[in-house]
Amino acid sequence: MTIRPIQRIIEALPTSDGAGVKLRRSLGSSQFARLDPFLMLDEFSSDNPDDYIAGFPSHPHRGFETVTYLLDGHMLHEDHLGNRGDLKTGAVQWMTAGRGIIHSEMPQQQEGRLRGFQLWINLPAKEKMKPAGYRDIDPAEIPVLQLPGGGSARVVAGTLVIADAAVPGPMQGLTTDPLYADVELPSGAQFSQKLGAERNAFVYVFEGSASISGRALDNHHAAILGPGDTVQIDAGDRGARFLLLAARPLNEPVVQYGPFVMNTREEIEQAMRDYQAGTLTSA
Ligand code: FE2
Repeated sequence: MTIRPIQRIIEALPTSDGAGVKLRRSLGSSQFARLDPFLMLDEFSSDNPDDYIAGFPSHPHRGFETVTYLLDGHMLHEDHLGNRGDLKTGAVQWMTAGRGIIHSEMPQQQEGRLRGFQLWINLPAKEKMKPAGYRDIDPAEIPVLQLPGGGSARVVAGTLVIADAAVPGPMQGLTTDPLYADVELPSGAQFSQKLGAERNAFVYVFEGSASISGRALDNHHAAILGPGDTVQIDAGDRGARFLLLAARPLNEPVVQYGPFVMNTREEIEQAMRDYQAGTLTSA
């Protein structure tokens, strides 16, 4: 067994996006802070409506997938396909932009806490122009596992193997084979998971603190993990809650311009022309 060490720590930096939603960005805070095929991870968390009320009005995407996981609150997704997704506490929205989607993501609350994540996962070149897709995942579809050493894990995508039992999450069968797990550990507990060496992996701590191979990982920090076949994470004094994300790398060039992520500059220019001409989403 080789434990994957921490290769690099990325602090989540405060920023804002949409119409002024305050958030913390770890992956994606620069083009050098990506982990193939993951492009970006944003955490939003606030009890102050001024930080989120403006939401994300109508905007386009092309070439990748967005995964929104709501820990607290209520948001409404609407897109050009006519989908309406009522995203409530514990729910996930898995959106495949493909050749193009135009959508809005707006808070449905005037007060209280809004907390969650948005992750961007790249698509392989051959899937970037496929038709847009959209799936709402109800909290009841997301398995919650009690861990043998204490704590619990939710599996959104891929499969966790705990005490020799494989527990699949609702999202399966994607080309990059992503694992998306939300793990909560009490102080002193350890989480261990075999994870094939062919997948890139990172951990994002959003409550408490953790350590990996003796190296500390503070709250609101991402750790990109190095090579090995097993992920092993120890909770800090106040326990830890973290996302564990892993996927097969694409090893393709990435050219990003805002909400468009393609392989070449020409494809980005085409996306901008299509958007201006109103044909971004048409087949
Ligand atoms: Fe979006």
